Amino acid sequence: MKIRRTKISELLKSGQIGTEVHAKGWVRTKRGNKHVSFIALNDGSTIKNIQVVADPNNISEDVLKLVTTGASLSVTGQLVESQGAGQSVEIHAQSITVMGVADPEKYPLQPKKHSFEFLREIAHLRPRTNTFGAILRMRHAMSFAVHKFFNDKGFNYMHTPIITGSDAEGAGEMFRVTTLDAKNPPLTEDGKVDFAEDFFGKETNLTVSGQLEGELGALALGEIYTFGPTFRAENSNTTRHLAEFWMIEPEMAFYDLEDNMDLAEEFLQYLCRYALEHCEDDLAFLESRLLEEEKNKPANEKSEMTLTEKLRFVVENDFERVTYTEAIDILRNSKPNKKKKFQYPVEGWGTDLQSEHERYLVEKHFKKPVILTNYPKDIKAFYMRMDEDGKTVSAMDILFPGIGEIVGGSQREERLDVLMSRMDEMSIPHEEMDWYLDTRRFGTVPHSGFGLGFERLMIFVTGMGNIRDVIPFPRTPGNAEF
Ligand code: 4AD
Ligand code: MG
Repeated sequence: MKIRRTKISELLKSGQIGTEVHAKGWVRTKRGNKHVSFIALNDGSTIKNIQVVADPNNISEDVLKLVTTGASLSVTGQLVESQGAGQSVEIHAQSITVMGVADPEKYPLQPKKHSFEFLREIAHLRPRTNTFGAILRMRHAMSFAVHKFFNDKGFNYMHTPIITGSDAEGAGEMFRVTTLDAKNPPLTEDGKVDFAEDFFGKETNLTVSGQLEGELGALALGEIYTFGPTFRAENSNTTRHLAEFWMIEPEMAFYDLEDNMDLAEEFLQYLCRYALEHCEDDLAFLESRLLEEEKNKPANEKSEMTLTEKLRFVVENDFERVTYTEAIDILRNSKPNKKKKFQYPVEGWGTDLQSEHERYLVEKHFKKPVILTNYPKDIKAFYMRMDEDGKTVSAMDILFPGIGEIVGGSQREERLDVLMSRMDEMSIPHEEMDWYLDTRRFGTVPHSGFGLGFERLMIFVTGMGNIRDVIPFPRTPGNAEF
């Protein structure tokens, strides 16, 4: 009789002790001697391996020779309680089939520590490592949690376009989408590229945000969210920026700035709690990895909290809400500013905050997540609602330890005349945004929204140090492999 395959995550729950089981997976390690081999098998269903015990009476030497790190196996045998430390059950193999060999001379993933830099070069194989397996399972869990949070609240998941004909967001440089012949494009009379001849009959780009279209949805359905890929061609080679990243953007009719902040705070706390409650094994692994890494750090760089303590801290503490103006005062009078330790000294009101300033506020001053509000209008987008003072807008950025900005959002300008004069100030032609302005012409209402960078969230919940290591195939300047 054919025995159905059981996932290793199921086998380890030990319900099937004493029965004949069938497992499939990839070899992580093999050790032993000529009397017995111990094979650690992993199938991706959990970070844990199952131990397969093979003795030469049942499994021929020719087969065992092919059982090397990375090879794929199909194993049948008896599930028994394990004598060894570290695992509850193991399989005593009756038969092993090697489905695919992995020549140890050539397979790049050997059972030893590989640097993250090296693993980025073999991003097609790195999901088979413990660290990236854990990260990918957690990416899935966090994506699911995003949908669950909004679904439970009655929000509608809205699919906004990836290819966009509008360039008003001003969130950064865009990637052009074209089918024109780059060597020999059609030209207009004055010698410019003639995009009227292009696929869409106009200039188009990859979207930097789904917000503007999201607003159209919110002003019909009440509450929507988008969750999709966004693209920015900024040349910022940092550990916090990707050229292609995923963003979650809720947009809510009838919400003011405070409602917006309340939702964002609840959302981030929900996601951290979800990780604690649903990703225990992967978190435990990532936490021990970090503790190992910390050992080699000088005392002043050691972190005060473990990964799970950090997550719990976010869940249990209210975020600090501070205006931009208050933050500038704090920064101006801060020790690093007075001792000229900031790369960008904080001088006057009106300048944008750099990530060193954001991190000072979060990590040194308040020692908790911070929501900064009411930024100067000149450093924020045209759609943010003008405050009474005529100088600031109802913006809010959420700053997280180790990351800086994780969320950016605002109450939107719902007053047609104010919005149009802001667009004039910023030289945004009304014609291009006519569809957007229609929402303010017809049945306009106060509304708000924000954007959470999914990979910034993943940095936080996994404790990884580089955004390139929390997405399967990172796109950064000069890098679009795989
Ligand atoms: O602050 P941003 O640019 O805001 C918007 O795009 C608004 N339309 C959001 C909204 O109100 N609906 O981006 C939002 C978030 C940032 O806080 C950050 O977490 C993330 O997106 N982000 C990036 N993540 C990775 N790589 C990049 N290059 C990022 N740029 C922004
Ligand atoms: Mg921002």
